[in-house]
Amino acid sequence: MEKYAIRGGNPLVGEVEIGGAKNAALAILAAAVMTDETVLIENMPDVRDTNILLQAMESIGTIVERVDRHTVKINGSQIHNLVISDGYVKKIRASYYLIGALLGKYKRAEVALPGGCDIGSRPIDQHIKGWKALGANVKIEHGLIITQADSLKGSHIYMDVVSVGATINVMMAAVMAEGQTIIENAAKEPHVVDVANFLNSMGANIKGAGTDVIRIKGTERLHGTEYVIIPDQIEAGTFMFSAAITKGDVTVKNVIPKHLESISAKLVEIGCEIEESDDAVRVVASKPLTHTKVKTLPYPGFPTDMQPQIAATLALAGGASMVTESIFENRFKYVDELTKMGADIKVEGNTAFISGVKKFTGANVSSPDLRAGAALVIAGLAAEGFTVVDDIKYIERGYEDFHLKLQGLGAVIERVEDDRELQKFKFKVG
Ligand code: UD1
Repeated sequence: MEKYAIRGGNPLVGEVEIGGAKNAALAILAAAVMTDETVLIENMPDVRDTNILLQAMESIGTIVERVDRHTVKINGSQIHNLVISDGYVKKIRASYYLIGALLGKYKRAEVALPGGCDIGSRPIDQHIKGWKALGANVKIEHGLIITQADSLKGSHIYMDVVSVGATINVMMAAVMAEGQTIIENAAKEPHVVDVANFLNSMGANIKGAGTDVIRIKGTERLHGTEYVIIPDQIEAGTFMFSAAITKGDVTVKNVIPKHLESISAKLVEIGCEIEESDDAVRVVASKPLTHTKVKTLPYPGFPTDMQPQIAATLALAGGASMVTESIFENRFKYVDELTKMGADIKVEGNTAFISGVKKFTGANVSSPDLRAGAALVIAGLAAEGFTVVDDIKYIERGYEDFHLKLQGLGAVIERVEDDRELQKFKFKVG
């Protein structure tokens, strides 16, 4: 089993290129099948989740042509099967975006219930509510979500919770419904806007994405397009916190600083300096870090996908901090692992109470999910001695070349396949 072997203690210094946003890419890839014409997608991250989704799309007849590592051509004209029950699909939550896409285009889809990170119960009632409001029949049988409609009709939908997935999934179906759909209490995340921009570039008529009311005028046909995916806010944020936790100086490049505002603001609060330019953000951590309070919230609030990374950093900051998770109930599974490194964190309900410690010491830890795994890696980079992070398959779901990008910043980290390679690493870096 692959692991990351780390020898901590080096401040990370330098520049790192941020890739395309995974969570935007997943929805955009699915939406690309909604036209029979060819769609060219650039800045696609080469990560496990996008690759699994592409395989699922190929399994129903989508033609996928890889132009280069980050560019793909998709053609949905040969789709011959609207049932995606493949085992791959269960591995990634975003497989359910194929329902919105196929239901919109063909008025029918059967897709296995989504998998994804185990960070709490992840209902899809708001997706179902939206599709039903558009006139679809929706039932769950044999582990499949089965949707079908004679025709889809625009509707006024109020989301009971702010959900990225439901907003995107209902928006996709509504794009090819008759008449106008209004989604109220919509999610405002940058990737919701990116998916709307992508669909608009295919001929859809979506207004208001990025606010909490999205208005969609249905259209009969979408056409081909060329589209560049936005940079990944969470990959950028993870590298920004890697600078803070290692007391380094890192510039994340190819980012949209506006998308990083809540992350930058917290870094300033805990004592880092931030320099922004048009498409880069520099984080300098030259002073001792200090405590703060943070609560995860839908965009533009502090992202839940950055919660483990900030908690790990606060565990090394002076004083008592509080981290409240308000989106998912099971997102503190990394705390036991951080404790092995010397962190002092107590979780009560949805809040982690953190007493900053002076140092972490390296340990063998396991990655419980994607973002928690990334947090353990940056904790290992700040720790004294060796850390081994196991179960990195989770991390590889969402970070492309994570260890290589960290090496570029001076981190001593390698991806090792077995214990022999691990011993070699320890011997080499002593
Ligand atoms: C997406 C992201 C994930 C991120 C999350 C919140 C993808 C592939 N994943 O997940 O990385 O952590 O947004 O920013 O883009 N909920 C319901 N009913 C529903 C749908 C959601 O109650 O039908 C609840 C969830 O349980 C959760 C909250 O709404 O408490 C937010 O979930 P949501 O925004 O839907 O997250 P995902 O789209 O699954």
